[in-house]
Amino acid sequence: MGKIGVLTSGGDAPGMNAAIRAIVRSGISRGYEVYGIRDGYYGLVNKNFTLLSQSDVSDIMVRGGTFLGSARLPEFKEDKVVEQAVSNLKEYGIDSLVVIGGDGTYRGAQALYEKGINCIAIPGTIDNDIFSTDFSIGFDTALETIVENVDRLRDTSSSHNRCSVVEVMGNKCGDLAIFSGLTCGAEVIITKETGFDEEQLLKQLTYFSEVRKKNHAIVVISEKITDVALLAKLISLETPFSGRDTVLGHIQRGGSPSPNDRLLATRLGDKAVENIMNGIGGCCVGIVNNEIVTIPIETALAMPIRKRQEYFDLHKRLV
Ligand code: F6P
Repeated sequence: MGKIGVLTSGGDAPGMNAAIRAIVRSGISRGYEVYGIRDGYYGLVNKNFTLLSQSDVSDIMVRGGTFLGSARLPEFKEDKVVEQAVSNLKEYGIDSLVVIGGDGTYRGAQALYEKGINCIAIPGTIDNDIFSTDFSIGFDTALETIVENVDRLRDTSSSHNRCSVVEVMGNKCGDLAIFSGLTCGAEVIITKETGFDEEQLLKQLTYFSEVRKKNHAIVVISEKITDVALLAKLISLETPFSGRDTVLGHIQRGGSPSPNDRLLATRLGDKAVENIMNGIGGCCVGIVNNEIVTIPIETALAMPIRKRQEYFDLHKRLV
């Protein structure tokens, strides 16, 4: 009987629990023992391993967060830290590892694979910045959360002739901004891909008020671009709108996963175990055109960011 380890790492994402459940149950069905590793690579280095049963993962699918805990461990770039992790896995006889997380997690898995551990990575991040998969686990739920909140902001901003500037997460990836901006009918969407021109934004907003006679405007902007509190003040000073900023922040990471995220996580978790059974390692799983695919982690990490030009063009036609 083989042994599989599973961990979640980096920022948590709704649906991670559903993936853990699928790995544990699919693994046990296929004759493996499955060990949960607490707090990501931190628990791997500190030997925080627990044998999981089918009932240990009962009822977790519907819950946000990750019941294994998660952490960021920048030290995992160091060779001696990776060696320690390998030695811990060997001590327990765990020869395969499934990691769930974003690009940092993928890099850790590649380092372990290069040292002989059979690793499979599953995309779990609200940012959707793993480009070997159409969607990562958590993106759909975070998008739903953003849309629900921006719809609320629209109600109040249209009552007060206001412009709501809404900052969304995504790290370096604009997907949460572009998908939510399009589905909320935002007047302006700003991401790393569009760039940010303050003067042009102020002119655009003035146009929406004076020429298009709009009584409110929504600006969806990716995090790490500008200080949205200052921007909202500037909008009040320089345009007919009164500006208000809202940083949605970690609200976007919580909540019960959407059915789409639960399904994606379940399919990917099962595929990860199937790959282990077939002796495939150093790979990640993903969904492309609704098919579950497996590709080398190295290839996935080298893929370029999606520019989403067609979505920006669509937004321009509809605004
Ligand atoms: O990667 C997920 C994410 O939520 C990013 O969107 C964001 O930039 C970052 O994590 C926030 O990290 P932390 O939870 O450590 O503040």
